Amino acid sequence: MAGASGGALAAQATNGGGFGFISAGYQPVENLIDELSLARSLLETRRSTETLPIGVGYLGWLLDKMPSEESESLLNAALTANVQAFWFSFGSDLGRWIRHVRENSSAKSPLVFIQVNSLEEAIYAVEILKADIIVAQGIESGGHGGNYAPPLYNLLRDITDHFSVGSSHKPVVLAAGGLANGADIAFQLTRGAAGAVMGTRFLLTPECKYTDAQRQALIAAKSEDTARTLAFDHARGTIDWPEGIDGRGLRNDTVSDFEQDVSLALIQSKFIEGTRMQDRKRFLVWAGTGVGLMDHIMPAKEAVKELHQECAQQLKLSNVKK
Ligand SMILES: Cc1cc2nc3c(=O)[nH]c(=O)nc-3n(C[C@H](O)[C@H](O)[C@H](O)COP(=O)(O)O)c2cc1C
Repeated sequence: MAGASGGALAAQATNGGGFGFISAGYQPVENLIDELSLARSLLETRRSTETLPIGVGYLGWLLDKMPSEESESLLNAALTANVQAFWFSFGSDLGRWIRHVRENSSAKSPLVFIQVNSLEEAIYAVEILKADIIVAQGIESGGHGGNYAPPLYNLLRDITDHFSVGSSHKPVVLAAGGLANGADIAFQLTRGAAGAVMGTRFLLTPECKYTDAQRQALIAAKSEDTARTLAFDHARGTIDWPEGIDGRGLRNDTVSDFEQDVSLALIQSKFIEGTRMQDRKRFLVWAGTGVGLMDHIMPAKEAVKELHQECAQQLKLSNVKK
């Protein structure tokens, strides 16, 4: 999660029994190296020769845009740290970066996760890019995603149906988008997902890089308070996303001004000032549609455990009903 997930969040998610990711996002390689060291210091696996049970996520379009030495050094930082997984999304040349990872990894090749927004993208990720794991990201998701993505309910069904009948290879498929609690995860498992990816839920942790004001805005938000938009990308100047990609965040005046064609210069200056003042009416808070059910902040490690318990409880209840 660019701008939200560093070494502390990734490590504590893993320590709780999940699998955490650091975002390589928009940061220089030195920061990524620091975040990886922080994660190593917080994880039980400490020796530098051991694989690090976390992953690093990369935005494909950003790697494409940077000079190749810089992109490669961002990938090499994670390779040197021996992370167990790489996550790629939103790029037209992901194969190039995946090749770099596979050709330059030491003994055991790390797992490659690819996030997809359609069946077509899933087929490409599995058959051409040879993804180890695909993340089916529905339209409900917080943060960036395809504005063309179907609801997770349909996307997951499209993908699992295709690979159960149309292919000799059955990929590992994770469900992402709008999931708020363990019961939501249980539901995805019963529909063929091998696991779930949660973003917004982990913004409500002390380890996340969001500010207190952003966390409070999430707690106050209802399910209907999010919008898919490019308003925030225009406001902050990150506008090189591939065609069809926008982001879901909490709707506020930055979004409505953008929709009403208020001048970009004015939107930007109010956004900058609003961010400085931590003004809910102006600042950016990415959030999925599950946000309405999220009402507490707890350490990431505890959050994973809580989700696990809720999920197990829900599955037991479903069994009893049968
Ligand atoms: C703050 C935030 C930042 C995100 N950044 C990225 C990113 O850098 N790359 C990416 O592939 N997905 C990103 N996502 C999307 C997540 O990978 C995931 O699909 C999404 O959070 C799932 O939906 P949920 O937020 O409703 O749980 C981000 C999500 C959030 C909330």
